[in-house]
Amino acid sequence: MAAENTFAFRGTYYHTPTYGSLDALRDVVLIVQEGKIVRIANGHEETAVQAEFGLAEVRRLKAGQYFVPGFIDTHVHAPQYLFTGTGTDVPLMEWLRKYTFPAECSFQDLEAARHRYLLLVKRFLANGTTTAMYYGSLHLQPNLVLVDSIERLGQRGVVGKVNMDRLSSDDYIENTADGLRDAEKFVTYTMGKKCSRIQPCITPRFIPTCTPELMKGLAEIAQKYGCHIQSHISECCGEVNCVREMHPEYASDAAVFEEMGLLTSRTVMAHGTLLTDDDIRHLARRGTAVSHCPLSNFFLGDAFFKVNHALSLGLKVGLGTDVAGGISPSMLSAQRMAVVNSRCIRAHKLAVSGGTTVTPEMEKDVITFKEALWLATVGGAQALDMADIVGTFEVGKEFDALLVDTNLSGTSGPFDVFEGEDDDQRFEKFINLGDDRNLIEVYVQGVCVKRGDEFLLDGSNVTKSAEEDSDRVMSAPTPAEPETAYVDLAHRADSSDEAASLDVGAAAEDGAPAPESESEPPTKRLRY
Ligand code: GUN
Ligand code: FE
Repeated sequence: MAAENTFAFRGTYYHTPTYGSLDALRDVVLIVQEGKIVRIANGHEETAVQAEFGLAEVRRLKAGQYFVPGFIDTHVHAPQYLFTGTGTDVPLMEWLRKYTFPAECSFQDLEAARHRYLLLVKRFLANGTTTAMYYGSLHLQPNLVLVDSIERLGQRGVVGKVNMDRLSSDDYIENTADGLRDAEKFVTYTMGKKCSRIQPCITPRFIPTCTPELMKGLAEIAQKYGCHIQSHISECCGEVNCVREMHPEYASDAAVFEEMGLLTSRTVMAHGTLLTDDDIRHLARRGTAVSHCPLSNFFLGDAFFKVNHALSLGLKVGLGTDVAGGISPSMLSAQRMAVVNSRCIRAHKLAVSGGTTVTPEMEKDVITFKEALWLATVGGAQALDMADIVGTFEVGKEFDALLVDTNLSGTSGPFDVFEGEDDDQRFEKFINLGDDRNLIEVYVQGVCVKRGDEFLLDGSNVTKSAEEDSDRVMSAPTPAEPETAYVDLAHRADSSDEAASLDVGAAAEDGAPAPESESEPPTKRLRY
């Protein structure tokens, strides 16, 4: 008898276990059980493995199809998806006032929030983002809608309610006490879902909009619940100069965050283009990561983030779209921008030299699509403290994966493949030229959440509206509870691949997380 929730694919899997090298697991049979990779066998072992696991079939990938680990976007502003692709005419501080705060404020309309957040999560899944680190908005309720949307569609997420108690517009600001109270409510609401894919994040927007009292209070909440933390650090001249004026007693953004207790091994700081080497070393000592957001840095920033240099100083680095500062929700685009960014650094150095000789020193910052893919997978997993769970194809990790089809030629796909091109060339074409059309299936925790044009978990009734959840916000459990049962996608009631696509109505009507099956309790997982 096959164990429940077991399936296997035979084919080629591309991943980047080490920075700078692309590994191909060619013609292997990869077996997924209960959402996890339990075996990677040689193709010629197919019959034996099939018998061992009692599988009715081993699905074979067609020529030109490959698996790649799901992309991890370490910096997205969920409500800004509304105006992505517009508002590119002003620098950061003006951009926040002119476009961002009004857009984020409009999510108080919860019907609108529900509609927009489903579109957002679908767009990101369609582009291969299986995990995202999201900023929500200031107000509590729309953030609950965001969490519900991620849960419903099956994405993996680290999600934060934005906190701001100074220097924002009058209708988009909170007082310190309310901000701290709502941040904690958000954390307990999210943890109360007991959904292993979704973790709460403490989110002081950035230093200019957060008083020291707020930042210190938020650091305490993060410590109490073992939460992730996210913010922006040394992003651009406007921001850095503002912080220097507001806090002349601190030498840098990093020094402010350090004093507030916000630099932890679960912190992800976005941008960091103006970090000094000392700042970088300090972040590295704390285990804090930087989300490199090249496209956003081109639009809102003034400087380059040097990935190779930061890594050489021991910093953890992931990749982010920074929607909407970055104008594309695609992590393929982010990877390409990371490569272009690195080549701009070389060009800049050459220009400064005034000569026509490219020296090895100038080459140091250049990365290829292989390093970019590492940043989008392994680097992101490390930044989010998930490196033991996702990022590569290894036994014991969860199966977050994209089925890439490079056979869509002509007008049905973004690129053509020519006779004689091998798998490696086809895969490189996908990374450099591909788009969502090439992603024919998207898996999170071993469950297919998107196939073709269909979002297979959509239509589920996992939660009711966020307004009706206000009681749960108050009563959600704290980590003081001795054991917390986290429900994986693979452990949702009847969540075999096919079943998950058809029947997720088992979730409770009253907004509670999906009930545990009588016969098969969900796995226990202590995240904190
Ligand atoms: N700094 C503070 N808020 C933001 C934001 O929304 N986007 C970016 N890129 N930087 C910020
Ligand atoms: Fe940002």
